[in-house]
Amino acid sequence: MSINIPKLPTIRDLDIREKKVLVRIDINSPIDPETGEILDDRRISVHGKYIKEMMKDYNPALVLISHQGRPGEGDFTSLEKHAELLSKYTGVTVKFVDDIIGPKAREEIRNLKPSEILLLENLRLLSEEIIEASPEKQALTMLVKKLSSNVDVYVNDAFATAHRSQPSIVGFPLSLPSCIGPVFEKEIQAITRILNSFESPRIYVLGGSKVRELLRVIENLMRNKLADRILATGLLAHLFLVAKGIDIGVENMKVLEEKGLLPLIPRARYILMRGAPIETPIDFKAKINGEVRNVYVGEIRGVIKDIGNNTVKIYGDLLKDAKVIVMRGPAGVIEEEEFRTGTLNLLESVYKSNAFTLIAGGHLGSMVDENRLNNRIHVSTGGNALLLFLSGEELPALKAMELSSKMFLGW
Ligand code: 3PG
Repeated sequence: MSINIPKLPTIRDLDIREKKVLVRIDINSPIDPETGEILDDRRISVHGKYIKEMMKDYNPALVLISHQGRPGEGDFTSLEKHAELLSKYTGVTVKFVDDIIGPKAREEIRNLKPSEILLLENLRLLSEEIIEASPEKQALTMLVKKLSSNVDVYVNDAFATAHRSQPSIVGFPLSLPSCIGPVFEKEIQAITRILNSFESPRIYVLGGSKVRELLRVIENLMRNKLADRILATGLLAHLFLVAKGIDIGVENMKVLEEKGLLPLIPRARYILMRGAPIETPIDFKAKINGEVRNVYVGEIRGVIKDIGNNTVKIYGDLLKDAKVIVMRGPAGVIEEEEFRTGTLNLLESVYKSNAFTLIAGGHLGSMVDENRLNNRIHVSTGGNALLLFLSGEELPALKAMELSSKMFLGW
């Protein structure tokens, strides 16, 4: 099966020199819910690096927009601290305004001069930014109308949010001459490299907390015959063990229940019955009476916190022969020091392998040792957007950009 990547306009196709440019970035970062501190600034540093280049090459007046978390969750905060970090990484003072479409923000945008950068407040403070709808509908939102009339062009550099049909992603392209930004472009180049590689085995290592989304990815991968093996870790592994009829112990069943994942068991069973190449761990790390113990499947006790020593070895051996690796989500509870080893060891196998590798961002990205990277390994800023696209779904951001290039560039 082939996945269609449309020809997308880049900043080389638009005239952004000295223009007022609205750039949608994704600096959504892990936040400590107690202190509000940014726990990992990888996405901010990547954007900072490319914004710096953009300023040097085109000297625009940049208006940056992004979201942070979702309303009602612990990571839903202001972008004020993000502005400080962006200033550090761009070398330009990034001005912050605690407004998005009100008079204060529009006044700041109107006064912005080339070589200056302004960051607006968290987009998800606007309720319309949470709603997903068609590009045509999103182009009519207040966000798009109010900001479009104050800027010249729109750049979508938020690859990590490309799977959301929200106004800041799909509305602006129908309202302004638009293109993708440099971070987005790099991601597309890495994905193209993976999709153009027909070598096997292609191994997906899937973990982390977004289990519902991972099942959708697995269903896509199977439908489009894109994975030779899927190595499950984290809560995804719990789910597939239960789907196989294996007893994971009451405490771990309770974890699945608390996370609302029990209703997914029949779906996981159906995936297995259809022959999905899913491997599950044979052992885990659990804390029993305050001590970290290696427990085997069949005699699981305590709350599982990481994959076990033998699973690390078996998964590592499989990764050694891989030609393509896609890794998403940590294998254990990496917030607790003693349960980081599973993830770190899997990453070690990735560094040593000769496979072309995509590491999906977020929490896993923060575990990567930058000194061990080489040109075979791409650490993506995208998480679910990357996985959904790789598994064959059409991303709304790309669709909107295609529409835009027809409307404004005559492509
Ligand atoms: C992400 O971290 O995956 C992106 O920032 C998108 O966030 P969302 O899943 O809250 O839309």
